Amino acid sequence: MDQFVIKGGKPLEGHVTIGGAKNAALAILAASIMTGDVVLIDNLPDVRDINVMLGAMEEIGAKVDRIDRHTVRIDGANISSLSVDYEFIKKIRASYYLLGALLGRFRQAEVALPGGCAIGARPIDLHIKGFKALGADIDISYGLISAKAKELTGSHIYLDKVSVGATINILMAATLAKGKTIIENAAKEPHVVDAANFLNSMGANIRGAGTDVIRIVGVDSLHGTEYSVIPDQIEAGTFMFAAAATHGNVTVHNVIPRHLEATTAKLLETGCEITEYDDAVRVNASNLEQLIRTQVTTLPYPGFPTDMQPQMTAVLGLALGTSTVTESIFENRFKYVDELARMGARIQVESNIAIITGVERYTGARVAAPDLRAGAALCIAGLAADGISVIDDAYYVQRGYEHFEQKMQDLGADMELADSEHAARKFILRVS
Ligand code: EPZ
Repeated sequence: MDQFVIKGGKPLEGHVTIGGAKNAALAILAASIMTGDVVLIDNLPDVRDINVMLGAMEEIGAKVDRIDRHTVRIDGANISSLSVDYEFIKKIRASYYLLGALLGRFRQAEVALPGGCAIGARPIDLHIKGFKALGADIDISYGLISAKAKELTGSHIYLDKVSVGATINILMAATLAKGKTIIENAAKEPHVVDAANFLNSMGANIRGAGTDVIRIVGVDSLHGTEYSVIPDQIEAGTFMFAAAATHGNVTVHNVIPRHLEATTAKLLETGCEITEYDDAVRVNASNLEQLIRTQVTTLPYPGFPTDMQPQMTAVLGLALGTSTVTESIFENRFKYVDELARMGARIQVESNIAIITGVERYTGARVAAPDLRAGAALCIAGLAADGISVIDDAYYVQRGYEHFEQKMQDLGADMELADSEHAARKFILRVS
């Protein structure tokens, strides 16, 4: 099993370029099979979750041609199966976007029912509520969720909770329904807007994405398009927090600064200097003696993203005084705290609040990544720590970050991805 090996304590310095947004790309890829025409998508991140989604699409008959590492041509003319296997759902929950896409185009689809995951129970009742409102019959049995409709008809749907996945899934099915659909209390995340923009570029009629009311006028069919995925604000934020934790000075390129406002605001509170450019943000913490405590609550966009919560906690673990981090989206997203404690962090979790007493420095240790963002947070802690850290289960981080260790190396980090204990030992000998 791959592991990250890090010799910490060096401030990160220089420039890093951010790739396409994984969570936007997952929705866009699924939506691409809603037409029988050819679709070209670029700025795709070359990460595991994207490759699993492409595999799921191929499995049901889509023709997928990799033009280069970040560009793919998809031909959905010959979809031969409307059933997505458990093998894919088990690896990425977002395979359930194929349910909305296939239901919209073929009026029928079946995917394995996703279970819970490392960060929480993650029900899909709101997706189902939306499909039912559009006229689909839903059956859940034998571990499968099947959706079927003679006709999909536009409807007025209120989402009881803000959900990225439900908003996008319903959006897809409603795009090819008859008449008008209104989604109220819709998610406003940049990837919802990107998915809507993509569908509009295929001929859909969607207005209001990015606000909490989305209006969709159904169209008969969609056509081919060429589309570039937006930059990944979570990857960007992760590098910004790594700069802060290591007292570095890093410019993060190819970002949309507006998408990073919550992250930027919190970094300012911790005392970092932030400079915004048109498509870049610089975080300078090199003149800071110690980071300053603050309080954070995760909220749907434009609030502070839950996907940045572990990275923020890793930073606040080094801030003077007591900070709090409240997780309001997922009930089980503090699993990594025990691992962080092995690196010297002083954090107590009470229900959904982490109470953090800042320490002056972390000390390197062997830890295991419990999920994607928590894995990134442990890497940040390792980069800031005295001595050597080994982060096991690097696989999780690779689900969402392309060449994470290389990008860190380019910023001056002593960090390597080791594919064996032997390779890890070799690296440790070299840097010690
Ligand atoms: C998306 O997951 C992201 N995944 C997650 O990113 C992200 O953490 C999450 O949104 C929140 O921003 C993708 O885009 C592929 P939700 P999603 O539906 O859509 C509850 C990462 O690290 N809910 O917005 O599954 C749910 O339990 C990942 O990249 C229901 O109650 O999240 C949660 O409390 C992890 N019923 C809240 O809504 C439903 O039917 C928000 O979840 C659906 C959701």
